[in-house]
Amino acid sequence: MKGKPIISIVGTGYVGLTSAAVLANAGFKVFAVDVDSKKIEAIKQGRSHFFEGGLDSFVSKGVDSGNLIPTLAFEEGIPQSDIVFSCVGTPDKADGSPNLEYIYSAAESIAKNAKNGIIIVQKSTVPVGTGRKLIEHISKIAPKLQYSYVSNPEFLREGSALFDTLNMDRVVVGSDDKAALDRVVEVFTAVNDFAHSVDYSEFNDYRLNNVAKIAPFSEIPFVERTFKMRLESAELVKVSANAFLALKISFANSIAKLAEKTDADIVEVMNGVGSDFRIGRAFLYAGLGWGGGCFPKDVSGLISVAKSYGVSLPIMSAAVEENQSMVNHVVRKIKDSNGGISGMNIAVLGLSFKPGTSDVRKSQSIKLVNKLFEEGAVVKAFDPQAMEEAKESLNGNVKLTGSIAECVKDSDAVVIATDWNEFKEHDWKSEKINIRGDIFVDARNCLNARDLIEAGFEYMGIGR
Ligand code: UDX
Repeated sequence: MKGKPIISIVGTGYVGLTSAAVLANAGFKVFAVDVDSKKIEAIKQGRSHFFEGGLDSFVSKGVDSGNLIPTLAFEEGIPQSDIVFSCVGTPDKADGSPNLEYIYSAAESIAKNAKNGIIIVQKSTVPVGTGRKLIEHISKIAPKLQYSYVSNPEFLREGSALFDTLNMDRVVVGSDDKAALDRVVEVFTAVNDFAHSVDYSEFNDYRLNNVAKIAPFSEIPFVERTFKMRLESAELVKVSANAFLALKISFANSIAKLAEKTDADIVEVMNGVGSDFRIGRAFLYAGLGWGGGCFPKDVSGLISVAKSYGVSLPIMSAAVEENQSMVNHVVRKIKDSNGGISGMNIAVLGLSFKPGTSDVRKSQSIKLVNKLFEEGAVVKAFDPQAMEEAKESLNGNVKLTGSIAECVKDSDAVVIATDWNEFKEHDWKSEKINIRGDIFVDARNCLNARDLIEAGFEYMGIGR
């Protein structure tokens, strides 16, 4: 393998498409392979099939340059590829363990079309031990294929996927093959160099224009942010990192409940706690709880894989239980404040699992809306991006509205369920006149309590 490797990315979701677009803009020839023709069609037209700030500009630039080649055919790109990144989904099964069907079928299609010397890189989150089983499986279906297998967990966050891919806080790679590890690290080193050379103002997107301003590029040399390790260690890094973050949030939410009983303010408490450099302030923001395509699945997957090895993780089960309790916690707040919930008109703002994305997978906000409805409330909802996506999982009787104003009009209570900027920046003082009741639940602690109280609301946060 000489010069720049040719790359294929299998799976064009948040991880796959973002990686493909960045690699193509960094000068690599990248085949973006997916079995879904709608997704490939959107990429061909130079756009992403999901909402992610700035990504469309990267996709269209990549396609226009000829470096990003979307395709439905494994036979097109894989035979030419030196490195293939597998970025397919791993939805969870009913018992909480991850469904690895797509991982196996992608590995088979790659193995059947690959040339000797290929490096197969697993970016999808898989339970520890999966790589070793896949190696055995690939060797059975393509016994003559000479290949290396590398685990390379992905840490990007939705809503800042592009920024995280350009500004990697760390690269983790695990394999038995040291030369393959070096080859994969070379690719990321090139991305890191590219990221520093980009003129972000070229991209017509305010997030990208601010990409280097929002959080400056890491000052730690790239080599010190690169961790080469055993295959199984790399697999375990990813789920453990997400599990720990989920644990931090659930910890903050548990202390928030105690804060409410004692007149402490959780924001003040966690400012104090998080300033200890050994703890850190991030992910100690109390609220409605964690959701999305990663945390719930990774935590339940970790519990289930640990169980299969005879290890119990009660600390993680407690984090899940704590998270599940947060929806009822908010419902109870409204009930106690109003003296019942049946027949109340409640406006819920925010449906995506967090701001900056249209993703509603395992969204706590959707669970809250459905729960309020079950309790007999008349619920209206609004989200700046996720209305279409939300329809499928929302109770059909919930009224979706077209704006904040329409949503809150004549309501008895307003609940902020997702901390979108649109809600933080809204003029609640002027809006108050259109709202019938006083109850305002800031379930993400994202507004200034004093402003809301001055506007005439009975303000309730979580843990304050
Ligand atoms: C997460 C990991 O952060 C990322 O590294 C990994 O690659 C994928 O999983 P993501 O799912 O995009 O990323 O969301 P994240 O920003 O981590 O938030 C997860 C959930 O926790 C959201 O529902 C968010 O609202 C909630 N959260 C986060 C809190 O409730 N409090 C916090 O302090 C932080």
